[in-house]
Amino acid sequence: MEPRSFDVGELAIPSEPAGPGWADFAAAAAVRNAVEEDAYGTGVLAHSAEEQLPAWLTQQHEPRRLFVARVDGVVVARAVYETLADPTSDFAWFTVEVLPAFRRLGLGSALADLLDAIAATERRTVNVVYAMSPDAPGERLWAPTGFGSVPVGNPEVRFLLRRGFHLEQVERGSILLLPVAPAALDGYRSAAQAVAGDDYAVLSWTGPTPQRWLDDLALLYTRMSTDAPTAGLHEPEDVWDSDRLVAEQAASCTGGRVALVSAALHRPSGRLAGFTELSVPTDPRRSVEQDDTLVLREHRGHRLGMLMKVANLQHLAQQFPEQTAITTFNAEENRYMLAVNEALGFVPMGYEGAWRRVSAAAGSAGSSATTDS
Ligand SMILES: CC(C)(COP(=O)(O)OP(=O)(O)OC[C@H]1O[C@@H](n2cnc3c(N)ncnc32)[C@H](O)[C@@H]1OP(=O)(O)O)[C@@H](O)C(=O)NCCC(=O)NCCS
Repeated sequence: MEPRSFDVGELAIPSEPAGPGWADFAAAAAVRNAVEEDAYGTGVLAHSAEEQLPAWLTQQHEPRRLFVARVDGVVVARAVYETLADPTSDFAWFTVEVLPAFRRLGLGSALADLLDAIAATERRTVNVVYAMSPDAPGERLWAPTGFGSVPVGNPEVRFLLRRGFHLEQVERGSILLLPVAPAALDGYRSAAQAVAGDDYAVLSWTGPTPQRWLDDLALLYTRMSTDAPTAGLHEPEDVWDSDRLVAEQAASCTGGRVALVSAALHRPSGRLAGFTELSVPTDPRRSVEQDDTLVLREHRGHRLGMLMKVANLQHLAQQFPEQTAITTFNAEENRYMLAVNEALGFVPMGYEGAWRRVSAAAGSAGSSATTDS
């Protein structure tokens, strides 16, 4: 392709829709949606710019920076740099997305170089990337977990390998078309409740967490960062408390998406043993997203995953009957969660690679480009 000139720069995040900087922010949001649609062959995963904004306005615990590349003044690519607030954390998460018509022009490299430079300055030497990998014929690169692979010839695979990343895990994106037959849900629910027994009851709510469950939910969110399978990524604990929960949920409401939660109450202790969360979009042509699902280790083996998920599907059908589909992402080795989802009717829609690179810290003895632990 003909070389074309472009420029890269950081965006100031608008404080509200239509505020200063909104047009650029919306253009970057559109890049995210277009790249995802290209990879998955469906637009159901799109988030409007309004829905994307809240995550950018709650930076206290997970700081993030947004960069774009422009060709002839038009935003055609974006990059995201995310860290934890802890300045001693080694981790930084990268995203680089270039509109298909502007690939192979060096934009992706320019944006990734920018992220590398920031990470080096901040000594964030462990970098993680989640990248969609559309299926393609030819040689495969397998995850070290033994579950799942990506096509070696894909652009994102070539790009990441060349930049020193190693594939650690493959995630399956799945979709469930709604509605699910109510009789089937009733059957799954009573079967799961029979195994769980009288010690466990399901609670469901819509929107922000009821005051009474804030501490329990904060613990469950924290455990989500350590108890879900993360293969060789070794991602760090992300600590939640009730203040963070209240602040982030309040911000998230302003974007228009609604959270539906079902949780398992452990009656003998009066504490929550697990939860599952759906995020409902403002436009029913897009998918409801299955967010976190977790059963605390000490409560596993009682069918609580199935019990809570079915309860939340029933809750969704009752509260938002117009919704048309649910999408979810699971580690390919997470057989228990996949088995629950498959039983409910989820089918695969695409795969994502989770990649990791460990760089030698700047100035360390014998630092040699990039190595993996
Ligand atoms: C991966 C992606 C960001 C690359 O963006 P890009 O602007 O095309 O990248 P560049 O032009 O800087 O290419 C850099 C190198 O990557 C490799 N590469 C990129 N696309 C490739 C392709 N289609 N085939 C083979 N190698 C490719 C090459 O080594 C290339 O260098 P070269 O052109 O000198 O041979 C882009 O394809 C994309 O947005 N994909 C979807 C989002 C994604 O998966 N991002 C993952 C990275 S965070």
